[in-house]
Parts: sequence; structure tokens; C-alpha cells
Amino acid sequence: MIRKAVIPAAGYGTRFLPATKSQPKEMLPVVDTPTIEYVVREAIDAGIRDILMIIGRGKRSIEEHFGRNVELEDQLIAKQKTAELESIRTLPDDVRIHFVWQNEQNGLGDAISHARDHVGNEPFAVLLGDTIVESFEERPIIRQIMDVYQEHQEVVLALEEVDPQHVSSYGIVGGEPIDERTWRIDRMIEKPTLSEAPSRLAVASRYVLPPEIFQALDMTTPGKGGEIQLTDAIRILLADRSIYGYRINGVRHDIGNKLDFLKTSVLFGLKHGDISDEFRGWLVDLVAGWGER
Ligand code: G1P
Repeated sequence: MIRKAVIPAAGYGTRFLPATKSQPKEMLPVVDTPTIEYVVREAIDAGIRDILMIIGRGKRSIEEHFGRNVELEDQLIAKQKTAELESIRTLPDDVRIHFVWQNEQNGLGDAISHARDHVGNEPFAVLLGDTIVESFEERPIIRQIMDVYQEHQEVVLALEEVDPQHVSSYGIVGGEPIDERTWRIDRMIEKPTLSEAPSRLAVASRYVLPPEIFQALDMTTPGKGGEIQLTDAIRILLADRSIYGYRINGVRHDIGNKLDFLKTSVLFGLKHGDISDEFRGWLVDLVAGWGER
């Protein structure tokens, strides 16, 4: 059973400067909720109650966000602002969020290696803190991945097909399909050129990893960008175990990327209770009048 989730939130948001100069990219709001809260909710909805966040310099507001603000709660209670109160009390009481500090930003693999003491000797889920992955079914995306783990008890990676011009931005896998969505993976390469890429199936921000990943990370030397890459560590595991990929039933929104951020804000705004009708009307008018601008 998967009991723990690790959410790395330690990377610089260089693709989103200047907004991320002094605030974490994971705190960028989509409509009214910080990105990382969507990620935490995904883990909670999948049944996980123990969450470890890997943070670093400039990321303290994440810690504050997930702590209680009793003074603000008291004010909202006094003013009978129930909806607002609910909005800041979203975590069930039995959920524990822990933090570990990464001194140097040395890649996703290095960030994950900071989870070793907390995770111990059990498999765990990984959800990248700057990416919302929206599910098209009732099961959250990480639950889809955990269910494949339950069946095979091996590494499972969320996969999403990307356009050829984007393969060089992702970890790309090669392998054979074993059913409509599940793949047995035999190759992985971090940010390949199009000609090196074994497919267009990209690792999509969610993983289930066994504790052996920590030994593999110890053996991993700096890869793409001179950083310790998680993809390279998983490839080490390929030598003596099977790795599965699951083509998610959903869509990934990479909030650290300006264009994706805007598109996600529009999509989520259109579905957001308070504002959806007015926003939809405004958007329709905007698009209708586009030619006149
Ligand atoms: C990371 C991983 C990459 C993966 C991507 C999206 O890259 O290294 O393998 O495909 O996340 O999940 P980053 O976007 O942090 O450069």
C-alpha cells in the first residue's frame, strides 16, 4: 500500500520570472488556489495522509500556506464568513504535512533523495508541485498510478503523449504496450532530441517509486543540465526490475510555463463556481470582437 507522498517544490521558477523572483512557482494561483494546493488535494483524494514537501530557499510561503492561521480564522468566524473560512481549512484533520530542506537546487533526483529518511523502506508516490494533472475520471491521476502499482508492485510512471517539438522538454520512455493504457518500459531518456527520443510518451509529473530508488540516486551522476536527474536513477533500476508506464486518463497543466498557466487559468475559471458565468460571457464577447482589435 502507498501511504506517503513526496512533493518536490524546490526548483527555481526561471521560466516564470519575474513573478517567481521572490515567490515560489508552486504558489502561483490558478483562479484562487495555489497550484501546490491542487497537488496536495490530488494526493489526499487518492487516500494519502502523509505528505512530505521538499522545499528550499524562497519557498517558506509554502510552509505558511499549509499551516493554520488561527487569527484569520477567528476573524472570519466573527464576521460569519463561512465560505471564506472553509476555503482556508481544506485539509482533513488526519493529514500530516512535513517539510524537508534542500540546501542546493541540484535537480529533481537530488530533491527526491532528501525524502529518504522520511520515506524509509516503503514505496511512495511523487507528485511534482508545479504541475496540476486534471483527471477525466473519478480517480485522481496519482490514484490511477497507484492502482497500477498495486497490480505490479514495481515503479510506475504517469505518461502523456506530447507533440514532437516538445519531446526535448521531458523524460521520454520507450517500451511495449501491455494493454490499452499500460506500458512495460525498457528505455528512458531525459530531455532527448527528437531523433534520440524512443517515442513521444513523456513522463508526466507523477510517479510511484520503490525505496530502492534511493540507492539508485546514490549511484546517479550529474546528467542533463549538470543536475542529478530522477529519470537517470529510474533507468538504473531498469537493470534488474520492471518499470511500468500508464497513459493517464487526464491532462497535465504545467503551471511553471507561462502559456500553460494562462490556458489553465482560463479552463479553471470557466468551471469556477463564483465567476464562471460572468467569465464565460466576457470571454465569448472578447473572442467575438477579436477581429475588430
Ligand atoms: C521533470 C522531469 C522530466 C519530466 C517532467 C514533467 O522535468 O525531469 O523527466 O518529464 O518533469 O513531469 P522538469 O520539468 O522539472 O525540467
